[in-house]
Amino acid sequence: MSVTVTWYSHACILIKTEDANLLVDPFVSGNPLAPLKPEEIPADYIFVSHGHGDHVGDTVEIAKRTGATVVSNFEIHNWLVNQGVQQAHPQHIGGGFNYPWGRVKLTIAHHGSALPDGSYGGNPCGFLFYIQGKKIYHACDTGLFYDMKLIGEEGIDLAILPIGDNFTMGPEDCLRAVKLIEPKNVLPIHYDTFDMIKQDPEAWRSQVEKETSSQVTVLKPGESIEL
Ligand code: NI
Ligand code: MN
Repeated sequence: MSVTVTWYSHACILIKTEDANLLVDPFVSGNPLAPLKPEEIPADYIFVSHGHGDHVGDTVEIAKRTGATVVSNFEIHNWLVNQGVQQAHPQHIGGGFNYPWGRVKLTIAHHGSALPDGSYGGNPCGFLFYIQGKKIYHACDTGLFYDMKLIGEEGIDLAILPIGDNFTMGPEDCLRAVKLIEPKNVLPIHYDTFDMIKQDPEAWRSQVEKETSSQVTVLKPGESIEL
């Protein structure tokens, strides 16, 4: 009955439930830390948080190969349909939907969302997954915002949070995010992929565990956490 969460580096996460592979932000081609090739990744559903190339990544190719349903905001949904993606489900911020494997709600994220060809990508989002009694919050690319406290009030089992700085929260603001969300477990992401977002995740782990009661797991690309 466990849920397995695998980090493929950057913001790319695979959540394996009893009956579905849920892939988030599959940036694999051109990602120097990716531990595998796009054609090796399983997916029944793909979630795209915003239009930037390091998040849309290989979505179109993986969706065409696997027939996965792609979930995104309405604007990215329309772009994906124009790219020939057959199965796509639009949602938008604040809205949840019950899928066969569980529920997902789109949350706010403070960031940009232009698509790789310059098309308008709407507002960026994060994802709150409700799976087999577990709540997983993937913040995706965002700065710190006080409403993270509202997300935390739901009782988060795992918060997947960026620490890279420069494009998203850095280590100090992400520590404040952990204090607002109060999740049981934290997985830091969106660091070390490029020189501009180099961080020391072990030092961050020590500080978070000293100042909060959340447990931090630092993974290598391709490693997993069981919930
Ligand atoms: Ni971005
Ligand atoms: Mn990014």
